[in-house]
Amino acid sequence: MEKLQQLYEGKAKKVFATDDPELLIVDYKDDATAFNGLKKGTIAGKGVINNQMSNRLMAYLEKQGIPTHFVKELSDRETLVKKVSIVPLEVIVRNIAAGSFSKHYGVEEGVVFDQPTIEFSYKNDALGDPLLNTYHALALKLATPEEIKTIEDYSFRINDALKAFWLTCGVTLVDFKLEFGRLSDGTIVLADEISPDTSRLWDSKTHEKLDKDRFRRDLGGVEEAYAEIMKRLEAHLK
Ligand code: TMP
Ligand code: ASP
Repeated sequence: MEKLQQLYEGKAKKVFATDDPELLIVDYKDDATAFNGLKKGTIAGKGVINNQMSNRLMAYLEKQGIPTHFVKELSDRETLVKKVSIVPLEVIVRNIAAGSFSKHYGVEEGVVFDQPTIEFSYKNDALGDPLLNTYHALALKLATPEEIKTIEDYSFRINDALKAFWLTCGVTLVDFKLEFGRLSDGTIVLADEISPDTSRLWDSKTHEKLDKDRFRRDLGGVEEAYAEIMKRLEAHLK
């Protein structure tokens, strides 16, 4: 598979064309940003960990019947994926109050919900990814009603599968963000990445943060946390 011209550079990844119009190569960087790019830094080795972790988790989800963009890991940082047009919605599933939920609703971090929540943000950096409901998403023609239903259904199933998996690693899945895309025939598949950049992962016993909140909040031990969470995943996902 030949890596052709760069099509796009995002905050954490670059995307390249290939000689197959239906396939792209994603290249994961060590760059880290937070607060819509206001805070910038580097997390050494993050690109390798996020690439490998996302691929392993997507392969695991495929086995559970969730279609994803994942095709094949090409190297430490590079992965072959199906070309999609991204649905401009960031889908956030939460099991425990944290982050913006705690801030918006005045709920202490760590309060466990009776059932998971789902919310959507409009994926639009210029607008600061504003929260929106499904009526807003329909008004803006970001997705069809059927697509939104599929995305919600997949997101809750992904939550069930990931929550169960992380539990075997002694890790509590607090919340995470997903993005979906459309294949050329319109099929909705999970895209983007699933990593410590896009999930809150707490040690089940100590509640130590093993994710990007260590960078966002200047807690220190960022690289160590990424290495620890990857080590646990490798020990439990064959
Ligand atoms: P939040 O509590 O800040 O809304 O974040 C919820 C989850 O979404 C958390 O696991 C981090 C992830 N997230 C992203 O992946 N990208 C983003 O731009 C933001 C704001 C959050
Ligand atoms: N990726 C996001 C950004 O820079 C933020 C985050 O993950 O907190 O804007």
